[in-house]
Amino acid sequence: MPKLDHNILISTALPYANGPLHIGHMVGYVQSDIWTRYQRLVGNNCVSVCASDAHGTPIMLRAAEEGIDPEQLVSRIRDSHIRDFEDFYVDFDEFYTTHSPENRELVEGIFNKLDAAGHIDRRIITQAYDAEKEMFLPDRYVTGTCPNCKSPDQYGDNCDKCSATYDPLDLIDPVSKVSGSPPVAKESEHLFFKLSGFNDELRQWLTTDNIDEAVLNKLLEWVDAGLKDWDISRDAPYFGFKIPGTDDKYFYVWVDAPVGYMASFKHYCDKNGVSFDDYWNIDSKHAVYHFIGKDIINFHCLFWPAVLSGAGYRMPTQVFAHGHLTLNKAKMSKSKGELIGARTYLNHLDPEALRYYFFSKLRPGIDDLDFNGDDFVARVNADLVNKFVNIASRCAGFISRNFEGELASTLHDEDLYQKFVDAGSDIDLYYRDRQYSSAARSIMELADLANQYVDHHKPWKLVKEEGQEAKVQAVCTQGLNMFRALLVYLTPVLPALSAQAGEFLNAPVTSWDDVETPLLKHKVNTFKPLKSRVDGKHVEAMMAEERAAAAATAEPKQVAKDADDSTISIDDFKKVDLRVVRITDAQVVEGADKLVQLTLDLGGSTRNVFAGIKRSYDPDQLIGRLTVMVANLAPRKMRFGISEGMVLAASNDSGVYILSPDSGAEPGQRVT
Ligand code: MSP
Ligand code: ZN
Repeated sequence: MPKLDHNILISTALPYANGPLHIGHMVGYVQSDIWTRYQRLVGNNCVSVCASDAHGTPIMLRAAEEGIDPEQLVSRIRDSHIRDFEDFYVDFDEFYTTHSPENRELVEGIFNKLDAAGHIDRRIITQAYDAEKEMFLPDRYVTGTCPNCKSPDQYGDNCDKCSATYDPLDLIDPVSKVSGSPPVAKESEHLFFKLSGFNDELRQWLTTDNIDEAVLNKLLEWVDAGLKDWDISRDAPYFGFKIPGTDDKYFYVWVDAPVGYMASFKHYCDKNGVSFDDYWNIDSKHAVYHFIGKDIINFHCLFWPAVLSGAGYRMPTQVFAHGHLTLNKAKMSKSKGELIGARTYLNHLDPEALRYYFFSKLRPGIDDLDFNGDDFVARVNADLVNKFVNIASRCAGFISRNFEGELASTLHDEDLYQKFVDAGSDIDLYYRDRQYSSAARSIMELADLANQYVDHHKPWKLVKEEGQEAKVQAVCTQGLNMFRALLVYLTPVLPALSAQAGEFLNAPVTSWDDVETPLLKHKVNTFKPLKSRVDGKHVEAMMAEERAAAAATAEPKQVAKDADDSTISIDDFKKVDLRVVRITDAQVVEGADKLVQLTLDLGGSTRNVFAGIKRSYDPDQLIGRLTVMVANLAPRKMRFGISEGMVLAASNDSGVYILSPDSGAEPGQRVT
């Protein structure tokens, strides 16, 4: 690899323009945004690009369902993604679209070069075809019974029960998801990229520091097993770019998607007078980094470098793959409401809290990371509010009240401050290597030191003592400078807080090296609170919003086939999630004469439930007692709010009787 200079192109995976973003997507965008801001802070020249991934069958079908053009759908979703990125402070230099003239030109150029160099093969294949809709069906658009284990409702590529892989037409009783009719087998000519010709080159590229260790071995296994040629064409109807020299064949979306990185950058270059070729020529000394999720590694680490090389371009400097975000250790699921939309998050919580939360958890490699409400609240409050921002709030008031905002002219404890400067080199390397969790830990260790220093000198006591003015000023000057050092180190993570604190300090953060020149004999502005605590109630409200949205769009449950048959199987009964809960709060509901609003503790999480028990209970006497609830009842929107479950009670004419477990039962325990 040629020696690199300080010009860096950073891309992050292009989000499909067929639906809203969730906070899982934000992992990659926040990770790359932090890295870009870090690179700039240490003085490198960065351009960061992204775009809407506009093509493919799902976008085509969704647009058709809505009765609009795919272009209209893409433009609407793209706008919503842009708003989400802005509000999370994810700041791309260019957020373009793959459905652009630049991309069409680049893709055609690359294809023509590959074809001329003999890297493209043409052969006839047989595929599932929907004769009613007159279209070939992608594997995921065919469902049926697994030929191996006979599980019903499996997709056409593999079985999620037994993991068997197969062809869609091997399914028993296959059905097209588009029309509902059984697909037929139909032949058509496809174009293939001869990936097998790049085995040696890929092995070479993979083993020269381009990929994290954890990912490398898996990739080498694939290369060793021999790479299969890659089907790069799709038949009409398809939303994408037509393949030159064909009437009705289109590039598969995964061909033009990574080229979209180049096209987005080309668009940026043309607007800003930057040389595209300097970055993409075979002998480029500039760096190109791709941030991606673990599910798209093969596209970025096998196909993409091979395509680039075959077409005479440079290969990426490094590909950084990250793990997936789970929600309470489970895969996010929209239909169950177990997912947090990016916009839903923003409706309730501070974007920088999530940026910091990811920062505190991320490190290189593809381990998944988990979002857990309690852990999130605890982490953000402990680190950002109690440790970091607290340093400034404890010192700022004295400087403005007693010294008209003027900082002392020397540091009170130079050795201690030097520790903050020295730690910068480790933190710098942690950022560079995307060891964000280690960077967070080092920064918080420094914050502990700063707080211990303030605790030790107690400016709030000194200020009441005679003749200690100079010391108060010195101690608070020291405190604010330590705060500022940490502010510099956290600037890539907390851009808004950095700007706000920079205003207070009357010195915006401009460079990593700002730490080396403490603010002395310098006037600061009046302090305004920088961050407030995250309240668990807002997390709960956010989750409730998602659950209610899922319940509102849920498909009506299939009516039992035989309504007369009132016995249920044990499996039916097991579907009811009964839990012991403690009533932690009970309130009358204004305007509802039967209802009591209950707050139920499930042993960690809480639920809001409206129960029709007012005629028998005084709310106050309910607080503290245990009962049993149905915890997986679909949330129901009521005039007074959302009810998230039901408590069990018997009733007759004379009253309502809430069930209670025997003593020893604990909140959260499952009732079976
Ligand atoms: N359009 C393709 C990428 C093309 S890049 C040339 C795509 N789009 S996506 O919208 O499905 O995903 C965008 C990014 O979000 C990908 O990097 C993907 O791995 C990532 N994530 C999707 N779900 C995620 C989580 N639950 N957690 C972390 N990242 C996740 O793939
Ligand atoms: Zn199976």
